[in-house]
Amino acid sequence: MATQQISELFEGFSKLAKQERLDRLVKMGALTADDVKYLNQTAGLPTDLAEKFIENVIGYFQLPLGIAANLCIDGKDYAVPMAVEETSIIAAVSKTAKWIKNHGEITTETIGSDSIGQIQLAKVKDFVAFEKAILMHKADFIQAANRDVAHGLVSRGGGITDLIIRKIPRADGFNMAVLHVQVNTCDAMGANIINQICEYLKEPIQILTGEKVTMCILSNLNDTKLTRAKVILRNVDPVLAEAIAESSLFAQYDPYRAATNNKGVLNGIDPILIATGNDWRAVEAGVHAYAARSGQYRSITEWTFDGKKLIGVFEAPIAVGIVGGVTKLHPTAILCLNMLGAVNANHLSRIVAAVGLVQNLGALTALSTVGIIQGHMKLHITNLTLGAGAQAHEVPYVQRKLEETLQLTKRVSLSHAIEVLDELRALNTATAKSAVL
Ligand code: MEV
Repeated sequence: MATQQISELFEGFSKLAKQERLDRLVKMGALTADDVKYLNQTAGLPTDLAEKFIENVIGYFQLPLGIAANLCIDGKDYAVPMAVEETSIIAAVSKTAKWIKNHGEITTETIGSDSIGQIQLAKVKDFVAFEKAILMHKADFIQAANRDVAHGLVSRGGGITDLIIRKIPRADGFNMAVLHVQVNTCDAMGANIINQICEYLKEPIQILTGEKVTMCILSNLNDTKLTRAKVILRNVDPVLAEAIAESSLFAQYDPYRAATNNKGVLNGIDPILIATGNDWRAVEAGVHAYAARSGQYRSITEWTFDGKKLIGVFEAPIAVGIVGGVTKLHPTAILCLNMLGAVNANHLSRIVAAVGLVQNLGALTALSTVGIIQGHMKLHITNLTLGAGAQAHEVPYVQRKLEETLQLTKRVSLSHAIEVLDELRALNTATAKSAVL
């Protein structure tokens, strides 16, 4: 469907009823009639599906699934599914995406194609001899593992590409050796295949070198396969643009701020990973480790203002898959992957990175202007009202009072909501009594 039509179909999207939203998504081509039937079903998923994923199953934990609107990435419009419980994430990303769509662009790329498996030898007796032996037989090891374990990847254009030797001197005087097995896992996230390759190589390495392999496991710090997203925004109020660039510097210099900044970026990333059945813990670990690559934990995004354009960049490993594991077993994950139309794992990682960067811009814009309370808590008022136990007929009054409190004090909490509700109920009781008298 043409970009123009998709933009039009997102007009007023947040104000629509659920069924109308579904109808619009069908019109966009993001959902099929069967998808709508599936999303409208009231019965939960069968327990035996859950048994395929984990042990000791007792049921499901459901998360809300929503759509981030207005995202135009590399010139293509997307309806982005996000599974998340936090108020305002989807609203903020949709609003910020619209701003970018009207005044800028989002571009993405991937750099490198290999994931990393680690083979550790905790204490190597003779590192020089070990290194020499591995270097002499490196090509044989790669060939054998590609033939015996990674043949499926090889047939799809991937497989093991390199074997790199690292020496890590220990405080006790020994040298640790770590072999990095670099693997192109194609469209799979690749954790299982990487672990299998490393374990396959364990014995031949021990036999060849006479040294003891102590551990085999993939690394979540995939700095050999990075995803980069870039936002360019024009016509930004220079005061705002400067403030956003300043807030970005704060997160570059200060790890305390960097952690919160990066949590905000991951607010945009994790919900897509969850919706598409990807391992969000792996991506979180990779993003945080990459953020600390200089030796200090820093912001994973950077915003600069050149006097005309506000430019934002996100760069980190985003190890995702579109085949294997939950991506092909969980019906909602299948639906969400289809909705995105991700043609390969790199494509999905680029969408994910772009949404993380847009989410970050939304947060920095709010923080540099009105503050987070206004945008965040306003939407949170409904939750507070319901959390306080308000009945349907009491909701409008409590919400109005909380909005007034927010305006006046810039602060609302659950205890405010409970107070207002108690007042309302006391008032109603008094009115009822006086009516009887
Ligand atoms: C809240 O979930 C996320 C923010 O704290 C992110 C940030 O501070 O940049 C608003």
